[in-house]
Amino acid sequence: MKLIFIGDIVGSPGRRAIKEKLSYLKSKYNPHIIIANAENSASGRGITHAIARQLFEQGIHGITMGNHTWDNKEIFDFIDDEPRMIRPANFPPGTPGRGYTVIKANGKELAIVNLQGRTFLPAIDCPFRAADEIVDELRQNHKCILVDFHAEATSEKIAMGWHLDGRASLVVGTHTHVQSNDDRILPGGTAYLTDAGMVGPRDGILGMQQEGVLYRFKTQLPSRFNVDEEGKWHFHGVYVDIDEETGHARKIEKIRLMEDEWRME
Ligand SMILES: [Fe+2]
Ligand SMILES: [Fe+2]
Repeated sequence: MKLIFIGDIVGSPGRRAIKEKLSYLKSKYNPHIIIANAENSASGRGITHAIARQLFEQGIHGITMGNHTWDNKEIFDFIDDEPRMIRPANFPPGTPGRGYTVIKANGKELAIVNLQGRTFLPAIDCPFRAADEIVDELRQNHKCILVDFHAEATSEKIAMGWHLDGRASLVVGTHTHVQSNDDRILPGGTAYLTDAGMVGPRDGILGMQQEGVLYRFKTQLPSRFNVDEEGKWHFHGVYVDIDEETGHARKIEKIRLMEDEWRME
């Protein structure tokens, strides 16, 4: 199974990048399933129903979230009825939505799991224990499993990669918005990348306008962060080919595209 995972889509430049480049990626990689993290797709803060619908219409089969899941209150109106969208599974029990799901598209089946780290992020339930419980249950009926580990610390993400090596097909990080350069297939057959990177404004600071972020760093005073809406985009993600017999990865390749700049190997 060929799969593309796209990192955090940030604001309108991120959505514009998806619109402009998804068909190119489809023709280049012929993916059966495309999953994207969209926790910042609505002005950097959460997601709306209209944006979720638009992403699905454009060919994204499943959406993962993260620490910005609840930032746009509209989500409470549709998350329970949208099985293609997941939020971190280790949020407190009883939280709206679901933490894992099975995506079916183009004759293939992929189980997707969303987890959130707790180093430099709110203290939630243990992502490692949640991973054990969910992945082991999914493995009874599914070979191909993607885990989006939404976390800040590289060490926590690498630890999750080793923790799930041989049990998940792909463990990919999100949240830092900066693509890491450590794509590899671990010895047990799990494709791993510490962070997929973001899809959105490339000349801001993690997608936000420089001014507000610099002001806060320099003065330690509160300032509002706004998406750099006028900026050009960059587009990051990862392509993975999975052996459906074993669920092990055969290939992992980073995706990195720049607006006005073709990057083809
Ligand atoms: Fe993000
Ligand atoms: Fe995040």
